[in-house]
Amino acid sequence: MKNILIFGGSGFIGAEICNVLCSVGHVICADNYSRNEQKDSINSSVEHVECDVTDSTSVIGLCKRADVVINLAFINGTTNFYSRPRDVFKVALEGQLNVINGISRSNVERFIYASSSEVYQTPPNVPTSEDIPLMIPDINNPRYSYGGGKIIGEMMCKYYLPKEVSYQVFRPHNIYGPNMGFEHVITELIKKIYNANLVNGTQDVYKIELQGSGKSTRSFCYIKDFGDGFKCLWDNAANNEVYNIGTNQEVSISYLVEILSKIMGRNLTFDDIPLPPGSTTRRCPDISKLEKLGYTPKFTLHEGLEVMHQWFLKKYG
Ligand SMILES: NC(=O)c1ccc[n+]([C@@H]2O[C@H](COP(=O)([O-])OP(=O)(O)OC[C@H]3O[C@@H](n4cnc5c(N)ncnc54)[C@H](O)[C@@H]3O)[C@@H](O)[C@H]2O)c1
Repeated sequence: MKNILIFGGSGFIGAEICNVLCSVGHVICADNYSRNEQKDSINSSVEHVECDVTDSTSVIGLCKRADVVINLAFINGTTNFYSRPRDVFKVALEGQLNVINGISRSNVERFIYASSSEVYQTPPNVPTSEDIPLMIPDINNPRYSYGGGKIIGEMMCKYYLPKEVSYQVFRPHNIYGPNMGFEHVITELIKKIYNANLVNGTQDVYKIELQGSGKSTRSFCYIKDFGDGFKCLWDNAANNEVYNIGTNQEVSISYLVEILSKIMGRNLTFDDIPLPPGSTTRRCPDISKLEKLGYTPKFTLHEGLEVMHQWFLKKYG
């Protein structure tokens, strides 16, 4: 049985990966528990170790126990990119450096790195395939501490990882599901709609703020579909390749709000507010590369949003 070491394994995506992989090996989940701790939803066979990925001694020590290493540890959440760019960049760079140094001093045979759709920023083609040029449009915009960190992380897989270690990079596109925290468009919107105030003089019309008139588009992938996609990558991916994981259903934020307003039973009106600087208006992955490995997302957006609403009510209603 292989030992699979997952840095950042106790987060939202990490919990799903721990659960997917616990039947194929002994999973060691290493996390500093700074965000989104999901221990309760992780299979009891998984071993938990407290470890900060910026602590080289701990990381190097843990890598000696592993056959496969996965690095998910990152400071996520758009608010953090703007308010804590130095921390974001530190965890991105020092973390990846320590993990690769740990791998270099051990018998690890395979490495998997979580990149992001943010490496495309404003892609020239939508749906966007993995070979589209990556970009950092403006290094003065703190937002790109995240996307820049991911691009460097990908380059380190290619040029810094020992050649005898195979690797895969995956780029998740807006994965959502219960327990994801509130720094994501779907949970932010559910919370906004739930807490919205009635418009003066009406009895059933509520008002919320909506960035950029809700015209931006994204695609949203339910966590169980992500888990299936990750398992396809685990089982069938080629060495040293990059894969998008998501769905290719591109929807506008206003369409997302329309579905949520029906599910939540609220008539809505909007106050238009500007998009934050550097946010992109259109993004959706081409997933054909992963589909060739057997991946087929199954959850409709409506089904996923129903689950999210029920989860929200159970937790906060
Ligand atoms: N969820 C998405 O839609 C999405 C999209 C694009 C990329 N990603 C990437 O996928 C990975 C997992 O994302 P997620 O949604 O599960 O985020 P998350 O924030 O829930 O998980 C990240 C985990 O890393 C841990 N962590 C943070 N700093 C650490 C440090 N210094 N040392 C050790 N652990 C640390 C956190 O405690 C958390 O458990 C991340 O690398 C993220 O950038 C996710």
